[in-house]
Amino acid sequence: MTALPDIAATPAELIDRRAGRHSLEAPFYTSPEFFDLDVAAIFAEHWIFVATEAELPEPGDYVTIALGPYSIVVVRDDDENLRSFHNICRHRGARILEQGRGSVGNIVCGYHKWTYGTDGTLLHAPSQPQGFDPSCFGLKPVHVRSVAGLVFVCLAEQPPSDFPDVAARIEPYVLPHQLRGAKVAAQVDLVEEGNWKLVMENNRECYHCDGHPELLRAFFPTYGYTEENLPPRLRPVHERYLRVDAELRQTCQRLGLPYELIEELDTRATGFRIQRDALNLAGESFTADGKAACRPLLGDFPTPRLGHLALHLQPNSWFHFVSDHAITFAVLPLAADRTLLRTTWLVHPDAEAGVDYDPDELLAVWTATNEQDAELVARAQRGVGSPAYEPGPYAPTEYQVEAFCNWYITRLRAHLTR
Ligand code: FES
Ligand SMILES: [Fe+2]
Repeated sequence: MTALPDIAATPAELIDRRAGRHSLEAPFYTSPEFFDLDVAAIFAEHWIFVATEAELPEPGDYVTIALGPYSIVVVRDDDENLRSFHNICRHRGARILEQGRGSVGNIVCGYHKWTYGTDGTLLHAPSQPQGFDPSCFGLKPVHVRSVAGLVFVCLAEQPPSDFPDVAARIEPYVLPHQLRGAKVAAQVDLVEEGNWKLVMENNRECYHCDGHPELLRAFFPTYGYTEENLPPRLRPVHERYLRVDAELRQTCQRLGLPYELIEELDTRATGFRIQRDALNLAGESFTADGKAACRPLLGDFPTPRLGHLALHLQPNSWFHFVSDHAITFAVLPLAADRTLLRTTWLVHPDAEAGVDYDPDELLAVWTATNEQDAELVARAQRGVGSPAYEPGPYAPTEYQVEAFCNWYITRLRAHLTR
């Protein structure tokens, strides 16, 4: 009989003895202690994807985001710059903005009406004594920056220094999709009954993609395989993929669109992966027939047949950019066993629902895929909660899951030795 794992181990011991190429031990997914550590070591120290600029088109537009126990505001200030603050009043600490999004002239605390500008300065604090200095009580700033219209925040005083480099390498791929002026066609919040790492791990492999009939129509089911480990049943579809991919490569060269894979998932603080890849069927979009779901296209592209630009960023996001729309995915931890997946669909600013696109068609593939994934994540969470669970080996096609776990363990170690 296999010995049951030593559940009395401390987080430091569990981090230390993590066996590579195997799933993590149960407490990483189930214990509130690890949840707190993940918030401190991962979510409070790295650049976190939280929104798109399309959600904040006008001065005063804001979104609030919960990151574990933190609440953060991202707002477009009166000079149209992005700003981010802790959503805590500097008087007695009340949560200031209670809605998930909205628009304000000033940021007013509902408790005693302390009033802040959209740049975070305290403008008005009623009934304070002589000598009260408002400049000491501005909202606490959070680092914020946009990468081609994707908004990231970092709670750390000293954000990871490699982010400007990562941003500079990502931008040439994403900028042609013109996300900055885009329109939000839809946003769906899905609470998954699983640890945030199970949500990320599930997204890093297509070993389970048989469970995604809708996605598999658009996606080549050969994703993650190499010539060496390709199952014989996938050989015909792989041959077709190679033809379509060669054609896509030519199109990209002609249009000056970057194409090559960059994969630095676990070799830096801001792990990432980016690649343009062919899509199946008509090769244009995530729809049942692979044709574009929306006219006009999102970028100034002369052809809709551009496959999909896929971007992953550690620790909490992935993206798909196709010619006619973009889909962003933000993973936001709620508790050890609950995670918010926020999915946003962006289209051309002039595109009208019901005229230029059918919202049901636009949302169908990823809504179905997300729900299927949520079920898989919940199932994994239920399993790893059993005392009989022990880490199992990753398949070669799960190398990105290993990269995620390796990145995560490396970051925890860096945090604990700081
Ligand atoms: S706590 Fe915000 S004004 Fe008093
Ligand atoms: Fe999936």
